[in-house]
Amino acid sequence: MSAVGELLVAFRDYLQSRSDPLLQHFIEGFDWPTEERVLAPRDLPVVSHLRGLDQVATGAEGALLDRLSHAGDRLHWAQTYSIGDFGEDFLQRYGWVELFGTRGHFVSEEMAGGFLLLGPGVHYPDHHHVAEEIYIPLTDGSLWSKDAQPFLPRWSGEIIHHPSNIRHAMRTEDELLVALYLWRGGPLAQKSIISGRMQ
Ligand SMILES: [Fe+2]
Repeated sequence: MSAVGELLVAFRDYLQSRSDPLLQHFIEGFDWPTEERVLAPRDLPVVSHLRGLDQVATGAEGALLDRLSHAGDRLHWAQTYSIGDFGEDFLQRYGWVELFGTRGHFVSEEMAGGFLLLGPGVHYPDHHHVAEEIYIPLTDGSLWSKDAQPFLPRWSGEIIHHPSNIRHAMRTEDELLVALYLWRGGPLAQKSIISGRMQ
């Protein structure tokens, strides 16, 4: 099995190991993909943070983060935004990889999943999208806002749910954010609609 295939297995096993009812409902009946796309590795500046990562999380989240870190050089890292959205500095500190979905390493039309990276000192302003979303941080201490509520710190393993079209935003302080994400119930390659401003 390819290194990316092994990462997909670890991703699936991690989610199936969690007993959270909302998460289990979200992935219930999902036909986990087996068809791999040939995607060339694509690097981004933010991925350098992943390489420098020592074991920062423990337990199941730490193990998944370790897998991601080891497969990092083989992944097709991408960005939805361009310089006109949030500026060059944001693009230096932001990226994601779609492990499965309509354009990712494995083929799925039903659900997309992967990992988001935000380097230290990033503000990802309010945005929203049709798809319903789950995030699970694999690192500690990032700040999250939902539905224009105040930013709250979130910890490794927390399950963050964004219903369809609800506004959400993230901030990092001194630490990198690595978060697992899942999208379903809407266009899986939609560019988010930006409603917030850089601060
Ligand atoms: Fe989102």
